[in-house]
Amino acid sequence: MILPINIYSDDILRKKAKPLKSIDSGVEELIGFMFESMRNASGIGLAAPQVGHSVRLVVLDISCLTHYPDEKPMVVINPHILAVRGYNDMEEGCLSLPGIHGDVERPAALTLKYRNENFEEMTGEFSGMLARVLQHEIDHLNGTLFVDRMEKRDRRKIQKELDALVSGTVQTQYPIVRESLTVLQS
Ligand code: NI
Repeated sequence: MILPINIYSDDILRKKAKPLKSIDSGVEELIGFMFESMRNASGIGLAAPQVGHSVRLVVLDISCLTHYPDEKPMVVINPHILAVRGYNDMEEGCLSLPGIHGDVERPAALTLKYRNENFEEMTGEFSGMLARVLQHEIDHLNGTLFVDRMEKRDRRKIQKELDALVSGTVQTQYPIVRESLTVLQS
């Protein structure tokens, strides 16, 4: 089932999401719907609050990107960043902010503790695009959007577009026009 994706002005995107205590059939179903909805929208990552569930659950799949055909889809539950290393700049987009892109500086690599789709505890090292998408999605679980992390000067340049999202004048039905997938949509 394709779930509607909440956009910028929806309150749920600003709430701190709750940890999952276990996986039941409802959560399994939600995970399936999230993958379906993300791919339908040409996204590479999706956090549960974006589809109306304020829980600490993320799905991602970057294998559609040119340089990452071998990356496996991931389910990330209750993530906890243990350490970060380095910094880089990358242009980001977000399914909850259709049409908006901007440069964001983030750590280049991270050590992450999380639970997988079987609720097993995992610890992993991530860098490159995966580190970027993971941090973008974990931000969603804490009520933070990438535009909050943009330089003030860059943010001013997109203020009109943000205002248009609030006023509801932007078409948000997915699939939207497929943009270059070198730009991060998550
Ligand atoms: Ni996003």
